Amino acid sequence: MQKEPLILGIESSCDETAAAVIRGRELLSDEIASSAATQAKYGGVVPELASRAHAEAVDEVVARALKNAGVRKEQLGAVAVTYGAGLLGALLVGLSFAKGLAYGLGIPLIGVDHIRGHLAAAYLEDKTLEAPFLTLLASGGHTAILYAERADKFRVLGGTLDDAAGEAFDKVARVLSLPYPGGPHIEALAREGNNIVPMPKMLKGCGGYDFSYSGLKTAVINYVHTKEQKGEGYSRADVACSFQHAALDILVRKTVEGAAETGAKVVTAGGGVAANGYLREELSRACAEAGLRLVLPAKKHCTDNAAMIAAEGLVQYRLGNFSPLSLNAEASIPLRRSANCEQ
Ligand code: KG4
Ligand code: ZN
Repeated sequence: MQKEPLILGIESSCDETAAAVIRGRELLSDEIASSAATQAKYGGVVPELASRAHAEAVDEVVARALKNAGVRKEQLGAVAVTYGAGLLGALLVGLSFAKGLAYGLGIPLIGVDHIRGHLAAAYLEDKTLEAPFLTLLASGGHTAILYAERADKFRVLGGTLDDAAGEAFDKVARVLSLPYPGGPHIEALAREGNNIVPMPKMLKGCGGYDFSYSGLKTAVINYVHTKEQKGEGYSRADVACSFQHAALDILVRKTVEGAAETGAKVVTAGGGVAANGYLREELSRACAEAGLRLVLPAKKHCTDNAAMIAAEGLVQYRLGNFSPLSLNAEASIPLRRSANCEQ
């Protein structure tokens, strides 16, 4: 059998500069430097600050990934790097660095679509996982259910109609005066509250697998503003808890329905929202009830990281899909292109 390649993954699409080394599906190192604390002061990611932070960190983060993996760069078989979607200036830092490394070492460059990275994170969790499987993608930019026909080809059952799930968490967090990114803060606050604030029952598009969060987000904002204008007290924790239930229960329900419809026996999840403890518990319970095998990536592999980029790099490496050094960064990539199901 051919020896598994050593793949270096690099991620710099938003505010995390990350590098990881894998051998096959074995994770050897997993490094991350985040400028989130700086960005938090501004209530969101400031592109210029993110690019600068990446440029300052990338060299050291990659060196640390190689060192902690016990690997010399000359031993690498390929460099996988996020080329999109994301902030252009931020992406260019990682991409340029990866190109230089691949060219200097004479090894393949593998441009990785960030969303495909999120979908590949599950491979690190379960080394036996192979398509077909059904996957729930819930990040800052997407809420979608996809059916992986093959490792490199997905069918989109449904996707984001307006705000994505993560975006709704961030916006609701802001109205509750919680820091950016809002997801983990809402999750923590929700633990102290009860699911007693009425939320809109049905989210638009409930018949199919599409997701709309804008109505839910607006309902929460209106509730809080009305209470404040009337000078009435309300529990922020109850709002967080009720919002979290409304936002996440529908993900669980549609994922299980999607598995029944496609006949999938295995379910995976990816994206920052999949780090949410309540979602993980509910998905575990619902999948167990429905007799589905659930493969949930570790929480740190749901939010942005480089291990998932290396994992998708391995998928592409095995297919011989390498990128030219002329590969450019892309700010946005439609989900159907990420899924490789464009007609
Ligand atoms: O996948 P990700 O790290 O970046 C994108 O590719 O978008 O997702 C970031 C999103 C943010 O909106 C953040 O608030 C949300 O994931 N998030 C969470 C949690 N952790 C991160 N949402 C809910 N609960 C969490 N624990
Ligand atoms: Zn992401």
